[in-house]
Amino acid sequence: MPLIELRGVSKTYPGSKRGETVHAVRDVDLAVEEGEIVGVVGYSGAGKSTLVRLINALEPATSGSITVAGTEITTLSERRLQRVRRGIGMIFQQFNLFHSRTVYGNVAYPLVVAGVPRDEQHARVVELLTFVGLTDKAHAHPEQLSGGQKQRVGIARALATGPSILLADEATSALDPETTADVLGLLRKVNRELGVTIIVITHEMDVVRSLADRVVVMEDGRVVEQGPAFDLFTRPQHPTTQRFVRTLIDDVPDGPTTEAIRRHHDGRLVTVSFRDESVSQSAVFAEIIRRGVEFELVHGGIEQVGGRAFGHLTLELRGDPGAVSDAVAAVGALVETTEVA
Ligand SMILES: Nc1ncnc2c1ncn2[C@@H]1O[C@H](COP(=O)(O)OP(=O)(O)OP(=O)(O)O)[C@@H](O)[C@H]1O
Ligand SMILES: [Mg+2]
Repeated sequence: MPLIELRGVSKTYPGSKRGETVHAVRDVDLAVEEGEIVGVVGYSGAGKSTLVRLINALEPATSGSITVAGTEITTLSERRLQRVRRGIGMIFQQFNLFHSRTVYGNVAYPLVVAGVPRDEQHARVVELLTFVGLTDKAHAHPEQLSGGQKQRVGIARALATGPSILLADEATSALDPETTADVLGLLRKVNRELGVTIIVITHEMDVVRSLADRVVVMEDGRVVEQGPAFDLFTRPQHPTTQRFVRTLIDDVPDGPTTEAIRRHHDGRLVTVSFRDESVSQSAVFAEIIRRGVEFELVHGGIEQVGGRAFGHLTLELRGDPGAVSDAVAAVGALVETTEVA
């Protein structure tokens, strides 16, 4: 049984004009297995944050069913809902720390609310601050911390009551790339060492690439595509997914790029796509070299997605036209190729 399951979930809000209805989430089916990291991507207004608020029961769904750890939450009393919420941690783009409290006070806060005895609180806060690497900042105030440190506090606070689920809504969107990598590393550790199931909401494909096992793409309230990260990156089906993937992985060079390449390269241009690890790059290059054809890499790159290599390399091939054609055909028999006009 999935840890989180949504069936036919919709959420509407009254719009700003009278009688208008905003369909923030439309008929969403989604299953998240225990121990998974699921990435939810979509453009602004796609319904990602609304989806998260439905899962942690901050807002009621308009229709459909949501179960968390086997409990149907759409019909629960407020008191029972509080217990469900305690099993779900949440972190935010703007960190949402209490500015009047120290780092220690922020992390201890959920424990105070939960009525945990003081000595237990202390042991737990120390443990959490050690886990996120902030023991030396225990008595600092949030404004004395960098963005990355603030998010570490956010993570420690979200984990205080030992939740089995962590929801991260654009948790790294306010951070620079290096700090982002840091925080993503910490989230990976939360997943691996504590077994916490994580849902990361983001519009950055690089976050999804480096973290998610599975990806859900939302548009206009709907889930338009979902699947294992590698499949989604290598064979995106929906146009929106394709656009997202293209922000990260350069496939065939576009018009202006091709023009720029053409200024220095008049040979035949072919994009070779590596999706399947059973075909090695060296096997591909060997086919070219064997025919006495010269080649140069002019565009593209290889990325690691879900621990597997994937990418597109555009080659310029030069030499005897017959040999070049033979090489292109031989390469095409091994991997997917696209001729660049
Ligand atoms: N409380 C609300 N009242 C009215 N409309 C809302 C409310 N919350 C969200 N919406 C609308 O629902 C739609 C989805 O919003 P949501 O915040 O879930 O999108 P999002 O994917 O998180 O966007 P972003 O990437 O900008 O954070 C939007 O059209 C938004 O205006
Ligand atoms: Mg949002």
